[in-house]
Amino acid sequence: MTQDELKKAVGFAALKFVKPDSLVGVGTGSTASYFIDALATIKDQIKGTVSSSEASTQKLKDYGIPVLDCNEVDSLDVYVDGADEINHQLQMIKGGGAALTREKIVSALSKQFVCIVDESKVVDVLGKFPLPVEVIPMARSYVARELFKLGGKPIYRQGVITDNGNVILDVHDLIIAKPMELENRINNIAGVVTVGLFANKGANVALVGTRSGVKEIKPSY
Ligand code: 5RP
Repeated sequence: MTQDELKKAVGFAALKFVKPDSLVGVGTGSTASYFIDALATIKDQIKGTVSSSEASTQKLKDYGIPVLDCNEVDSLDVYVDGADEINHQLQMIKGGGAALTREKIVSALSKQFVCIVDESKVVDVLGKFPLPVEVIPMARSYVARELFKLGGKPIYRQGVITDNGNVILDVHDLIIAKPMELENRINNIAGVVTVGLFANKGANVALVGTRSGVKEIKPSY
């Protein structure tokens, strides 16, 4: 199976976590896009969705799936999204698609986070994938210097403006031994909107696409 076929398999497998009449958080990226294809097959059975990006919103609307404003809902029953890396505690690096801030908001609202990934995303230690940080444009150089002090090499993602009008710094060469601490530290830098570490609130379950089928993984502590 190709990587794309594995992504499709987990996108469709996630449907089992979507209960009738539920409110569904929808992620961003190529794996989440397959989940939207799957969701379209049961669109009449759900109450609606909250989306984590303009791109996902457009795809949901093209299918005629109702998209609610985040401010209209108190909570979401489930959030389904991909990740750039996930460890065995189900902590993640996200933001490869620059949607990390809205993804973190949708995750915060959700009772359950179902992470859908192909097996190449599962790691023992987070940090090989450059860690995305969304930054207010005027703070870009200051935040880059602060990230450098933490031991990483921040690279400005040229030509990318997030859905919130901000820029992204991708931090290379980090070995993230203490993901929760690092998430808090980076979020505390003035000018940082969000870091793409989802450690303090990770996924509740991961569906991992492997050549021998979709595996369901719970966090190991
Ligand atoms: C977007 C994300 C995505 O979930 C992450 O980049 C994975 O993308 P893909 O499913 O295309 O591999 O965090 O901001």
